[in-house]
Amino acid sequence: MTLPLLRGQKALVTGANSGIGKSTAIALGRAGADVVVNYVAGPEDAEAVVKEIESFGVRAYAAQADVSDEDQVDEMFAHMVSEFGTIDVLVANAGLQRDASVTDMTLAQWQKVIDVNLTGQFLCARAAAKEFLRRGLVPEVSRCVGKIICMSSVHQIIPWAGHVNYASSKGGVLMMMQTLAQELAPHGIRVNAVAPGAIKTPINRDAWSSPQAEAELLKLIPYRRVGEPDDIANAVTVMASDLMDYVVGSTLFVDGGMTLFPGFATGG
Ligand code: BGC
Repeated sequence: MTLPLLRGQKALVTGANSGIGKSTAIALGRAGADVVVNYVAGPEDAEAVVKEIESFGVRAYAAQADVSDEDQVDEMFAHMVSEFGTIDVLVANAGLQRDASVTDMTLAQWQKVIDVNLTGQFLCARAAAKEFLRRGLVPEVSRCVGKIICMSSVHQIIPWAGHVNYASSKGGVLMMMQTLAQELAPHGIRVNAVAPGAIKTPINRDAWSSPQAEAELLKLIPYRRVGEPDDIANAVTVMASDLMDYVVGSTLFVDGGMTLFPGFATGG
């Protein structure tokens, strides 16, 4: 499917060398955007994503930066402005898990997840907002001054035993997203979230890679299909486009119904 939905726009996707970030970066390129492929480790994977995006006839390059490091983030955005002129779409996607029961969870495990998943999104959103405000509206590019899409999770609302760091980070993403949306909407900036359910990526391989695990997982998904990275990439692409211009401060759940309390289909 070729949709010129984002023709002429400049996008940055964090954590774009694998999983949801990779598919999203490719989808944005296919939709006509020039794309910065952020990664923290794995330059070969990032370069492969760049090559695939370039095959659509748009520009792309890989940018190494740890999203939880203020200087590295600011440097990455400054470089993007000098390369591409500006940024129109930020997909704050980079995220990780460091799972442990609460009594076993170290402060380092807690902190790492909060640093990357929450502080990382804040630092990138702040840098993008500054550039959006500096540049202002360019009507022939988009009706909107700039778009920030926060990669959240069903765990922004579903508690998750054994993952208190991760669930807390995503609960934080929800309130950060809504607060930024409220603050930035008067400036013509749209901030929204996409909240994936269980998607087949390396982050949750144990949950879907064996038939038994997948069968257990499917009990949590009314639509009875584990998601694919493209399910999220497509949602982000539309969310970033002017088709969604009146969507401000929303979370789009892309989860096969995981947030519909499937246990209540037969109980309660
Ligand atoms: C987590 C996955 C998990 C999914 C559904 C995601 O946010 O990263 O590990 O499978 O939520 O529980």
